[in-house]
Amino acid sequence: MVVQLLPYVPRTVVRRVSARYIAGATVHEALEVVAQLNAAGARCTVDMLGEFVTTLDEARQATDDYVRLLAAIHARGLETQASVKLTQLGLKLDRGACLDNLRRLVRTAAEHDNLLTIDMEDSSCTDATLDLFERVRGESPHVGAVLQACLRRTQADLERILPLAPNVRVCKGIYLEPATVAFQDRDEVRRSYLALIAAMLEQPSFVGIATHDDALVGGCLDLLKRHRISPEHYEFQMLLGVREELRRRILSAGHPLRVYVPFGQHWYAYSLRRLKENPTIAGHVLRNLVPLGR
Ligand code: FDA
Repeated sequence: MVVQLLPYVPRTVVRRVSARYIAGATVHEALEVVAQLNAAGARCTVDMLGEFVTTLDEARQATDDYVRLLAAIHARGLETQASVKLTQLGLKLDRGACLDNLRRLVRTAAEHDNLLTIDMEDSSCTDATLDLFERVRGESPHVGAVLQACLRRTQADLERILPLAPNVRVCKGIYLEPATVAFQDRDEVRRSYLALIAAMLEQPSFVGIATHDDALVGGCLDLLKRHRISPEHYEFQMLLGVREELRRRILSAGHPLRVYVPFGQHWYAYSLRRLKENPTIAGHVLRNLVPLGR
């Protein structure tokens, strides 16, 4: 019920409750948050919100914004990469234009000795995203990919890209997908996740272990120990504002950890998505709306 009500909640309330998940509206605000996280020992990757472009001009504009973002990161000497969604670069409008935009961003990342990770979107984008990743990764090592453990196809996708010695973030997958393409059972998704990590650790690659799930963090720590993996080949990754106590525990045990830092004008759509995922947080929105006299 809370989730159904969310679109009717005033933006100011959504903004207040979701502030912990979003680093602000501007590059300056985002890089301030990055600087604080760097000081606490965490690396970052910044994501400029705005996957909903409807024209190629908007896609070019988003590319320009990312170019400026990568330059600002370099100028401030921060330990942060950038993450981007290909629909933001025009994937659904014109694949050739999207490839041009992507190439420009990866060239810029290379100039600044940085890395651009291509987020993975819903399953209608998987083929095109992996195709463009493979093309660009063939030209430059300054690009990373994301694989979603919930998809039945992902083990085969990993085998396809492993020969590129890729930098891959493994996550569960955030999009609701039908049973024909995705595992629906939580334990099946977990088994798939651990199998993907195990396969990556056996090859020359770099894996981002992106999860807040205690069972998966524990399982991955066991795998890292068993395979004697050194920290140049992996890092844990977590979303800004989520399970900060777990983040501190992983860092203080000496593991590298990266925080995903979303920011930008399009914070509202992103916030609704995060709040819908987590009814406990959505409950806070309702309490802000209706003083329950606690
Ligand atoms: P799970 O959902 O079981 O969460 C474990 C616990 O963490 C929960 O019980 C809760 O306590 C807490 N938690 C998790 N999410 C929370 C939230 N939003 N708010 C508050 N608490 C929360 N997906 C995708 O499809 N494409 C992508 O490119 C990415 N990129 C990405 C980058 C990084 C760095 C991370 C950490 C995640 C992604 N994801 C993603 C999202 C991912 O697919 C997945 O939806 C979330 O990480 C939640 O799954 P967990 O593995 O954390 O487990």
